[in-house]
Amino acid sequence: MKNILIIGGGAMGSAFSIPCLENRNRVTITEPYSKIFIKNHLTKNKFHSALNMRLPKKLKFRKFSKNLLNENFDLIVIALSLSGIDFIGRELKSLGIKTPILVLTKGLKYEKKTNKLFTISERFKKKYNMKNISILKGPCLAKELARKNQTSVIVANKNINIAKKIGKIISTKYYLTEFSKDVIGVEICSAIKNIYSMIIGAGQSLNASSNLFQKSVIEMSYLTKYFKGEEETTLSLAGVGDLYVSAAGGRNSKMGSYLGKGYTFKTAKKRFMLHDTVEGEQLAREIAPYILKKVKRKKIPLMENLLKTIINNKKLKIKV
Ligand SMILES: NC(=O)c1ccc[n+]([C@@H]2O[C@H](COP(=O)([O-])OP(=O)(O)OC[C@H]3O[C@@H](n4cnc5c(N)ncnc54)[C@H](O)[C@@H]3O)[C@@H](O)[C@H]2O)c1
Repeated sequence: MKNILIIGGGAMGSAFSIPCLENRNRVTITEPYSKIFIKNHLTKNKFHSALNMRLPKKLKFRKFSKNLLNENFDLIVIALSLSGIDFIGRELKSLGIKTPILVLTKGLKYEKKTNKLFTISERFKKKYNMKNISILKGPCLAKELARKNQTSVIVANKNINIAKKIGKIISTKYYLTEFSKDVIGVEICSAIKNIYSMIIGAGQSLNASSNLFQKSVIEMSYLTKYFKGEEETTLSLAGVGDLYVSAAGGRNSKMGSYLGKGYTFKTAKKRFMLHDTVEGEQLAREIAPYILKKVKRKKIPLMENLLKTIINNKKLKIKV
């Protein structure tokens, strides 16, 4: 039995608690930011609004505090969205915490000062002196995991034994883990699939989307290699695996479908998805300053097109 702290009481952090508890760990969840999620966890019946279900009674909720972070956990899981990454980096750095960290967050960070793009694990290591970091990515809809639908994910660490140890702690017969040493490749793929699922969603028929899917995979391979990941990681759960689930049923592809119909991003957001977070949009704004300046555009025409569509609020030019 291990003592696990999950930081982030949103859909994914809460769903992740379910296999961890089933595997007989002691699991505590904390929420540093959202009043709604704090309320969800504090109510007596533990009804989680985003998951639309009650969470296990055994899941302990604790108020977020420095004292809590300092307690003796075997694993700290970060399940915040990208916008919370620097906040938690600062908190953990100030306390000098050495506990192994597992990051579920998907995305990339742009640093204006150096004009560089960082994966989340690079950011944690370089800016916040965090050392023992593993990442977990792959095709996982939180609602499905919470209902114990079979889900396969990938845990990555340069030291594969650490990744495997984490796999043992968290996996169940419905939550299966694969392993990789290619931390950068896994992080790059799992981030940029949010953009490519918008592109695939822009296809106005299955035939058109399939064409965009195939071209997206080629661009994902190029970018993975560009950022010094392994090209074959594109074919892993973190690459095509996650791309499939996001293109088939996510908010990114829904937004993509409106872009494909000729709406600008702002109009589509206001008219059809006002209260939805579109992770692909957030990532597009984060990475555009780097990608549009530094990467050969001929190699990534779909990415270039989508980034310009979002940041300039123009109509999508891809032929769909
Ligand atoms: N690794 C996986 O298998 C997997 C699967 C699905 C989602 N995810 C990733 O997990 C992350 C969370 O997804 P989710 O579906 O739970 O989202 P969510 O919107 O349900 O929850 C977001 C969480 O981030 C916190 N947050 C938001 N803005 C913040 C800020 N500025 N400062 C601090 N905290 C902030 C929220 O309070 C909440 O805890 C995303 O990056 C998503 O891509 C990972």
